[in-house]
Amino acid sequence: MKTADLFFKMQATLGEGPVFHSPTNSLFWTDILEKRLYSCSLENRFLESFAAERCIGAFAFCNNEKVVVAADDGFFFYDLDSGIFQPIGDPEKELPHNRFNDGKCDAMGRFWAGTMEFSPSGPNGSLYRLDGDGHIDKMETGLTIANGLAWNHDNTKMYHVDSGKNELYSYDFDLEKGTISNREIIYTFEESYGTPDGMAIDSAGHLFIAIWGGSKVIRFDPSACRVREEIAVPAPHVTSVTFGGNDFKTLFITTARDGLSNEQLSEFPLSGSIFKVEVEVAGCPLYQYQSSERVDSH
Ligand code: BGC
Ligand code: CA
Repeated sequence: MKTADLFFKMQATLGEGPVFHSPTNSLFWTDILEKRLYSCSLENRFLESFAAERCIGAFAFCNNEKVVVAADDGFFFYDLDSGIFQPIGDPEKELPHNRFNDGKCDAMGRFWAGTMEFSPSGPNGSLYRLDGDGHIDKMETGLTIANGLAWNHDNTKMYHVDSGKNELYSYDFDLEKGTISNREIIYTFEESYGTPDGMAIDSAGHLFIAIWGGSKVIRFDPSACRVREEIAVPAPHVTSVTFGGNDFKTLFITTARDGLSNEQLSEFPLSGSIFKVEVEVAGCPLYQYQSSERVDSH
């Protein structure tokens, strides 16, 4: 079994949502519970830390030089230079115990993100779609821990995970309309195997899925519904993955210290760090959020 290497040593409480940014050749990620975003240059491993004020579950780069974030109090634009947040909308104003968790843009630049309770007690999360004009639609309900979004190459399928139920789903996806239908459970993970968390898709259509509680990332073949490969990670709580590097053949992996006992933390001192592993087939780059907001010229 391959083992992932250390990319950046740190003690993130809940490292999540990695995004590779080609223009700066940097990896960005969030520490949800510490309310921070980070970026690290692949060239010199220089770390930048951004105080985020809120629990950011996921974010995506925008066409207007900002990032769009899904946080515990809704969707915002966040200007990394000025540190200014600009509210877009909060579909769960009435649910203060919920926060956004995983999110990603589809090929038309809509931002999809799902919610969970800070301490999950049941299927009280939903999946939302944020359109370029700021309109928010609820697309799915009854989720315990919304996680791991990906789309196949021709945008006919969307994949999604509910970590609370250990289930991996596929939907038929209509790219033009931005709608999902015909949900199927394509895999249910045994509890002893670990919990599926964030994921990324490669250009062969395989899903790389972080396994929380399983010290690994798996390569999953959705056409055969089979695990094809396991990659060991020296941290038990593996949270998410994304592809990057100049050829998109590096898989970056985030991890968490959250939920580990003191014994586990001393056995796995790299918990909370960022790891990387080289893969044979290139991954698919993430899409940007296509905001219809006017780009400020000053
Ligand atoms: C969430 C964590 C959760 C984990 C495992 C992550 O995406 O952010 O809060 O414990 O998934 O299900
Ligand atoms: Ca996740």
